[in-house]
Amino acid sequence: MATVTGESSKNGAAQNLMEKAPWTDEQGIAMKVYNGIALALEILVLYIKMTATWLHCLYQLVVPPEPKSVNGEIIMITGAGHGMGRETALRFARLGGTIVCVDINPTGNQETVDLIKEQKGKAHRFECDVTDREAINVLAEKIRREVGEVTMLVNNAGIMPCKPLLQTSEKEIRASFEVNILAHLWLLQAFLPSMMERNHGHIVAMSSMAGVVGLRNLVPYCATKFAVRGLMEALHEELREDKLKDYSGIKLTVICPYIVDTGLCKNPKIKFPSLMKILTPQEAADSIVDAVRRNYYEITIPSSLYYINMICRAFPRAVPLYLKDFLDSGLEAHT
Ligand SMILES: NC(=O)c1ccc[n+]([C@@H]2O[C@H](COP(=O)([O-])OP(=O)(O)OC[C@H]3O[C@@H](n4cnc5c(N)ncnc54)[C@H](O)[C@@H]3O)[C@@H](O)[C@H]2O)c1
Repeated sequence: MATVTGESSKNGAAQNLMEKAPWTDEQGIAMKVYNGIALALEILVLYIKMTATWLHCLYQLVVPPEPKSVNGEIIMITGAGHGMGRETALRFARLGGTIVCVDINPTGNQETVDLIKEQKGKAHRFECDVTDREAINVLAEKIRREVGEVTMLVNNAGIMPCKPLLQTSEKEIRASFEVNILAHLWLLQAFLPSMMERNHGHIVAMSSMAGVVGLRNLVPYCATKFAVRGLMEALHEELREDKLKDYSGIKLTVICPYIVDTGLCKNPKIKFPSLMKILTPQEAADSIVDAVRRNYYEITIPSSLYYINMICRAFPRAVPLYLKDFLDSGLEAHT
């Protein structure tokens, strides 16, 4: 007996269907023409949508979208006790947000709350190790009872061991993944459901330029920061493609700073400081708040790196590496 392959059996089934179909040859041809026109129209609509979006984005380069109000939002910031977390908290508080400051370090966190209150802002302090999933769930309940539903979550807390991979301990590698990426997932599982119920919210995730390009002395850190961008892109699609409910009211923003002077990067090396200057946490926080208020999906700080990276990615891999060698910037190992 002859063996029937999958393809030929499929063709055979289609042929049978055509033979049994209750339409004439002319009707069959008309059907094919109709299907062809429908597909051509679909492609045309797709082309128009893509072109219109592209033109809209170009227009927004010149006329950026209006910043939204955060007045009345309950904004939870992890790692609010220092650096960019603190500065971002201060700015959102000035704009009328109620800030939920979360940090493992109670002293720094209290300082942030005090600074916000000195400026007549609203802030609450909660101590939590964001790597502890159980503690996060307890924290979520506490915040719900004492403050209300969190409407904006800024996943900012991060750590950065900076040394060659073979000198990085297992403990340091695990801790990097626990704080820089797993905590984002635990916090999303705790705070996203209430945003989904109301179709209102904003998730902000701190990635890094080390999540866009690989850098020496930062192998585990880069892995975590690339992962943050992957997490956010997949989450965006999960919300966008939901068949049952509209989640377009939940916005996502990924932040990719280069080097910010918070003490996290202890030995920065910059060949052309005027081109790639080390930013203050205040400057970085201005960009973060601006990006969130304009609902940008992803930004780099400084913004020029976004375009440099996009252009470089269009070239063969060796080309941007030459540019990287020429710029000769990065981080020396921490001692
Ligand atoms: N500083 C930079 O140059 C730079 C560049 C790119 C990206 N980033 C990222 O931006 C974010 C903020 O960086 P920064 O420089 O402001 O950091 P920072 O060190 O100044 O502050 C980090 C805060 O996170 C808190 N924290 C650390 N582990 C925690 C935990 N397990 N639970 C709760 N809180 C914890 C710390 O106590 C601290 O208050 C980080 O995710 C970092 O990776 C920083």
